[in-house]
Amino acid sequence: MIRIAAVGDVHVDKDVVGRYRPALEELPDQADALLVAGDLTRHGTPEEARCFAKEFGGLAVPVVVVLGNHDHQSDQQEQVTEVLTDAGITVLEGAATVLEIRGHRLGIAGTKGFGGGFAGACASNFGEREMKDFVGTTERFATVLENALNSVECDALVALTHYAPVPETLVGEPLEIYAFLGSYQLGRAIDAAPTALALHGHAHHGSERGRTPGGVPVRNVAHPVIKQAYNVYQLLSDEVDATLATAR
Ligand SMILES: [Fe+2]
Repeated sequence: MIRIAAVGDVHVDKDVVGRYRPALEELPDQADALLVAGDLTRHGTPEEARCFAKEFGGLAVPVVVVLGNHDHQSDQQEQVTEVLTDAGITVLEGAATVLEIRGHRLGIAGTKGFGGGFAGACASNFGEREMKDFVGTTERFATVLENALNSVECDALVALTHYAPVPETLVGEPLEIYAFLGSYQLGRAIDAAPTALALHGHAHHGSERGRTPGGVPVRNVAHPVIKQAYNVYQLLSDEVDATLATAR
């Protein structure tokens, strides 16, 4: 069995440093790796990225992240990525990584993803150039996720995104904004690979648990949803959701 800790939307700035650290210090007793589902910062500045790296870096387990829309706010995502990478954090965008964990290969494929909506209420590739560009972006992120998922050979495969791949984990958000919170194309990409678990954030008022049309468990790990420093999920196990020894 592999245990992974996950959280998203931690929105770290100076005032947040120290808030997560006590729970993170205990993380190696709970899980083999930490995955963070984007919106690491508030406005995507390198200064905030340094705060995130201070809070979430230097752990005894590997830390793998994707960026979120907030991490793009200052158009400095390359610098943000560099700060995180220099701190030993793996940043995935249309890429995958494999972690060797107690004799098992854990594959993690990640991308920020994008909005677009879900069946019956989604943007379509028709009409103005701006709308085609919007949907083109949706489809591009889904394609890179599918390719990344299918690029790894591993025993357990996880999809890590910021935007949601299914509408079930958005329940609690206003229906009117679902199209800005995720897209069905991400779910389709997840189902086009032997994915064991999909993790996302972004929907602060959403719900934790869902499933893709193909049956892959989906978990919204946005901090306001899980209400603790991280949740723990199990792979190569009958039960996805783990109970923390000491809940945070
Ligand atoms: Fe977000």
